[in-house]
Amino acid sequence: MNVNDTCITRTCGEKESKRSHFPFPGPSTVGPQRRLTLEYHQLISYTGCHSFISLCEYFTRPSFGCVCHRRDCGMLLNETPIFEPSLLQELDWSSNTVPFSPPISPSSPGEGLVLRPLCTADFHRGFFKVLSQLTTTGDVTPEQFTKKFDHMKKSGDYYVVVVEDTNLRQIVATATLITEHKFIHSCAKRGRVEEVVVSDVCRGKQLGKLLVSVLTLLSKKLECYKITLECSPTNVAFYQKFGYTASHETYMQCRFPNEGQQKL
Ligand SMILES: CC(C)(COP(=O)(O)OP(=O)(O)OC[C@H]1O[C@@H](n2cnc3c(N)ncnc32)[C@H](O)[C@@H]1OP(=O)(O)O)[C@@H](O)C(=O)NCCC(=O)NCCS
Repeated sequence: MNVNDTCITRTCGEKESKRSHFPFPGPSTVGPQRRLTLEYHQLISYTGCHSFISLCEYFTRPSFGCVCHRRDCGMLLNETPIFEPSLLQELDWSSNTVPFSPPISPSSPGEGLVLRPLCTADFHRGFFKVLSQLTTTGDVTPEQFTKKFDHMKKSGDYYVVVVEDTNLRQIVATATLITEHKFIHSCAKRGRVEEVVVSDVCRGKQLGKLLVSVLTLLSKKLECYKITLECSPTNVAFYQKFGYTASHETYMQCRFPNEGQQKL
């Protein structure tokens, strides 16, 4: 791309498309994808657009991530993690009891993969596409997503972990640890594992095992006195690998079919 090249962009909050001119250094934009991606983020900040739906032919895929730099936007999709990433780096992986062959770890989850906390920019990296392979997600808007994300981040009790394919810039797996605060057991904390799902094209690459191992170790690091989860009978053998055992207690529920919709 050269200085003053034109791209079609769609800006946040605006229904119609607009054309933007980018004051861009030409030669450096030609190069490997990682380089292009970095510049893509610069490009967004130049224009103030939050979302690039259609880009110059230099960007072969229709949608990269989105970062909104518009002050009046009110909707910021960015790379801010939902929890402190160093928590993952500081895990004592040597105390993991589950075998990995070939060996992978939180810092090296596999070729072209990164394991990290969720951020709002993942909305446009197929986060919901992966979740929808587990259950119904509903038609969530970026506004609903950021509002829920902010709530979870502020609470400090939601550890949503994702695996990103950095070549495709797509989320390929996710799992969540929630910490629940108690008065019992001397005001203890309990962990819950939720929404463990690996994209069907990435199953069998040990990512499910990696995610559950990571969250189990994380719950220990966060000083939970126990960690629990609910799963279908077909997944019991999977969780037994990590030391989970079926409880003698019965899981009970009462569903409210018409409630629970997100109202903005
Ligand atoms: C269950 C799921 C997360 C496993 O992820 P995955 O990345 O495919 O699994 P892995 O490659 O990490 O498999 C690890 C091990 O578990 C085994 N395994 C995988 N799924 C299993 C299952 N449902 N039951 C028993 N063992 C299973 C594998 O054979 C492998 O065994 P090994 O280590 O002895 O070779 C994945 O299949 C998935 O997303 N399923 C749909 C959503 C779902 O059911 N989530 C769980 C909600 S409780």
